[in-house]
Amino acid sequence: MPAISFQSVSKTYSTARGSFQALDKVSFDIQQGEFFGLLGPNGAGKTTLISVLAGLVRATSGQVLVHGHDVHKEYAQARRTLGVVPQELVFDPFFTVREALRIQSGYFGVKNNDAWIDELLANLGLADKATSNMRQLSGGMKRRVLVAQALVHRPPVIVLDEPTAGVDVELRQTLWQFIARLNKQGHTVLLTTHYLEEAEALCSRIAMLKAGKVVALERTSDLLKAASSNVLRFKFDGTLPPAFEGKARVTGRIVQLPAHDAHEIEQHLAVIRQAGLRVEDVEIRKADLEDVFLDVMTAGREKVPA
Ligand SMILES: Nc1ncnc2c1ncn2[C@@H]1O[C@H](COP(=O)(O)OP(=O)(O)OP(=O)(O)O)[C@@H](O)[C@H]1O
Ligand SMILES: [Mg+2]
Repeated sequence: MPAISFQSVSKTYSTARGSFQALDKVSFDIQQGEFFGLLGPNGAGKTTLISVLAGLVRATSGQVLVHGHDVHKEYAQARRTLGVVPQELVFDPFFTVREALRIQSGYFGVKNNDAWIDELLANLGLADKATSNMRQLSGGMKRRVLVAQALVHRPPVIVLDEPTAGVDVELRQTLWQFIARLNKQGHTVLLTTHYLEEAEALCSRIAMLKAGKVVALERTSDLLKAASSNVLRFKFDGTLPPAFEGKARVTGRIVQLPAHDAHEIEQHLAVIRQAGLRVEDVEIRKADLEDVFLDVMTAGREKVPA
């Protein structure tokens, strides 16, 4: 039985300006024990899909099962199986961190949970904040509490919607160590993030959404293999030669050009030489998930197995 099964999930929001289709027949399964990445640009539909999964938003059509439980018809069973870290910071300012976690435990019917709450606080760097009021916490600390809240009932399926947005480097590392450990112990993890290097390092399989549709669904290693294997990177001021237009990814002074093989690298260098460009810090690196992502999103080259 899959941990999560999305079956032709569509969602149309009705707004003042008419209807808007946020999800278009999304179908894929996440197996138990997987560390799965859901990627896509802003507005692609990631949070909508997670909201349907969490039973917060009702799909217009299609079905979502969590450990075999329909999230709509068997809400309570499905919800108990899930621990969801929402993208939005929602919290009750009147409770302390420990109170918030105790209340959440009570919501799931978990009694005498303080040992696990202490472990969560320690692992998320919140031990010294247990008695602070939620409103006294910084943004990054509030996000840590949301992670703790999601894990308070030891859910077999952990869903993280951009858990590291606004979180400092140190906590990101401790958070990922902790989540990776839970994954090793058998917990399924579904993660959305815009930090593609995190997704590349953590997720064994990835789905990419674009305008509500699945445009890639593959093992991370296969996605990387299929991408142009190298990238020529250099720094440069001025106008790029027309030969590079549409190919180059430009970030400020940094120009990056995909190159499948040594021949293509030579061709790029020849263009640079012929145009008489003065480039600095030239290097060749392996293509990473960000290159694949941009390839899928811009070129529209879909990577969904038939
Ligand atoms: N309640 C709503 N009513 C109308 N439209 C909505 C609603 N919620 C989301 N949308 C629209 O649905 C689309 C998908 O939004 P969603 O929040 O799922 O994107 P996302 O992939 O999570 O983006 P981000 O990376 O910015 O978090 C967007 O165009 C958004 O404006
Ligand atoms: Mg979102």
